[in-house]
Amino acid sequence: MAVRSKSSKAWLNEHVNDHYVHMAQKDGYRARAAYKLLEINEKDKLIKPGTILADLGSAPGSWSQVAAKLVGKNGQVFALDILPMDDIEGVSFIQGDFREEQVLNQFESLLDNRLLDLVICDMAPNMSGNAVTDQARSFYLCELALDFASEHLKTGGNFLVKVFQGAGYQEYMAAMREVFVTVQTRKPEASRNRSSEIYLLGKNKR
Ligand SMILES: C[S@@+](CC[C@H](N)C(=O)[O-])C[C@H]1O[C@@H](n2cnc3c(N)ncnc32)[C@H](O)[C@@H]1O
Repeated sequence: MAVRSKSSKAWLNEHVNDHYVHMAQKDGYRARAAYKLLEINEKDKLIKPGTILADLGSAPGSWSQVAAKLVGKNGQVFALDILPMDDIEGVSFIQGDFREEQVLNQFESLLDNRLLDLVICDMAPNMSGNAVTDQARSFYLCELALDFASEHLKTGGNFLVKVFQGAGYQEYMAAMREVFVTVQTRKPEASRNRSSEIYLLGKNKR
């Protein structure tokens, strides 16, 4: 197989990016990220009719759009983001910073003691440009999401989370293995241009 030059890789990534942006416009999704969840769900069947799930870092809302459609009338989608999000039918949304206890409490009251089948987390902090700080901030959000998942998922529940490979990755994998029977990685086609981004899938909460 021919080795691709840096510039042809860049071209290919750009091309894939454009392709998903056009598809999202055509399909009525608010972001190309929709196709990452759709691809993972195609393989892992995480979201089915009746699934009750939380979507952390949900804005602008393409994952919630996908989830609301798949869970149907008998399922439920609870979503949270620090940014506002336009309404989506079938999605209960709270705007707030997930790092703040008061926001977490508010989100928990929305759940009203319902145990979840699934937590999906696509949260990513605003990048400061300092790679070390950004990586630490990102894993902090992932740790909070893992705590939330281990507290609110039912036994046997699943957790999908975006992480950035680098410092803290192995420790986070180890922490996930404490909570889930299996932990796998997923790198959907629509995420190929974001080089260090990868999704971890914890299946079957202990
Ligand atoms: C990549 S976007 C999510 C895209 C979303 N999955 C979609 O399909 O539309 C990451 C989101 O994480 C949110 N976020 C970052 N830090 C957060 C925090 N501390 N609390 C809540 N949301 C946060 C951002 O505002 C942003 O909307």
